[in-house]
Amino acid sequence: MTDPAELSRMIEAARAARENAHAPYSKFKVGAAILGESGRIFAGCNVENAAYPQGQCAESSAIGAMITAGDRRIRAIVVMGGEAGAEEICTPCGGCRQRIREFATPETPIHICDPAGLRRTFSLEILLPESFGPTNLAF
Ligand code: THU
Repeated sequence: MTDPAELSRMIEAARAARENAHAPYSKFKVGAAILGESGRIFAGCNVENAAYPQGQCAESSAIGAMITAGDRRIRAIVVMGGEAGAEEICTPCGGCRQRIREFATPETPIHICDPAGLRRTFSLEILLPESFGPTNLAF
């Protein structure tokens, strides 16, 4: 359970990041915000590319910001995409579920938002069950 005041800060950070998204091809802007173990919040947006496969998801950008700043654990993450009240919610893609998993625990909350606010919260375990991770390589 993410502290409500922290969650509000994360949502605002994700919103600001989303506004800066570079998404001229899909027009689908996404922002992400991570609460790191230090209590700092790291934001990122999707960064598309004319060579389409080179584009990067918002979650990847936020993870890069966290690692660059020296934090190594994701306490919670907010993903904000899509339109307010849209039928579909913007859950992380499969690749980003794995990227989050590297720095999270099965209980880590993933808060899915649209620009109007929080839509759903999932644990990482729900979005990526039976996952492969660092301990698989601890031999
Ligand atoms: N995207 C993200 O940044 N995060 C997600 O969780 C889902 C998808 C981006 C990738 C691409 O720039 C655009 O949304 C459309 O797929």
